Amino acid sequence: MPSKISEKATHAFALVSLVYSVLLGLSLGTKKGWRLFTYHPLLLTVATSIFVIAAMYKKIGGLQYTRLHGNLSFLGLCLVLGGVSAIYYNKEWNAHSSHFESNHALLGGSVLSIMCILLLNGLIAIHPDWGKLKTNKTIRLAHKMTGRFILVSMCFAIWQGAKKVAPGFYETDVAVGVPAAFWAFLLFWA
Ligand code: HEM
Repeated sequence: MPSKISEKATHAFALVSLVYSVLLGLSLGTKKGWRLFTYHPLLLTVATSIFVIAAMYKKIGGLQYTRLHGNLSFLGLCLVLGGVSAIYYNKEWNAHSSHFESNHALLGGSVLSIMCILLLNGLIAIHPDWGKLKTNKTIRLAHKMTGRFILVSMCFAIWQGAKKVAPGFYETDVAVGVPAAFWAFLLFWA
C-alpha cells in the first residue's frame, strides 16, 4: 500500500525524529556525565529512529526509496552493534556483573539477533537489484511484520533501559512513550 504521507512530510518527519532521538539518547546517557555508557542509549535511540525513518521511506515506494530503506537499515544495525558493544565493554572494563542477565539485556540481545537475520533476508532474498525472491509476497510480508515487531520491541527496550537510569514519569514514560506512540501510529497507519 502506498504511503499516506507525502515525500516532503516524510523528510520533515525524518529530521524531527532524528533530532529528538539524539536529545533523548543524550539526556538518558549523560545523567552522570559523558562516559562509555553514554554511547549505549545514544546509539540505540538514534538507531531506533533510523529504522523507523527507513520504514517510512520504504512506504513511499520505488527503487530509489527501497535502496535508501536498505542503506538506512544497514546504518541502523551498525549503530545497534556500536551501542550494545558500548554497554558490553562498559561492564567488562568496570568489573560489573556478568552479561545478559536482566530482562532488558535478554530482550536487547534477542532483538539484535533477529535484526541480523532480517537484514540478511533483505540483502540476500528481497534486494531490489539481485534478490531472487524479491517478488515473493510471503517473504516480503514476513520481512515487514518482523521489522514491525523489532521496532515495537526496540521502543519497549528503550523504555526498560530508560527506567533504569531515569525512573521519573515525565523523563521516561512521557519522553519515550509519546514518540513511540507517534512512530507506531505512522508505521501502522501511514
Ligand atoms: C533498542 C534499544 C536497546 C537495546 C537493544 C539494548 C540492549 C541492551 C543489551 C543487550 C544489554 C546487555 C549487555 C550486556 O549484558 O553485556 C543492555 C544493558 C543495559 N542497557 Fe540497554 N538497550 C537499549 C536501550 C537502552 C536505553 C535507552 C537505556 C537507557 C539508559 C539502556 C540502559 C541499559 C543499562 C543501564 C544496561 C545495563 C544493565 C543491564 O544489563 O540490564 N538501554 N542493553
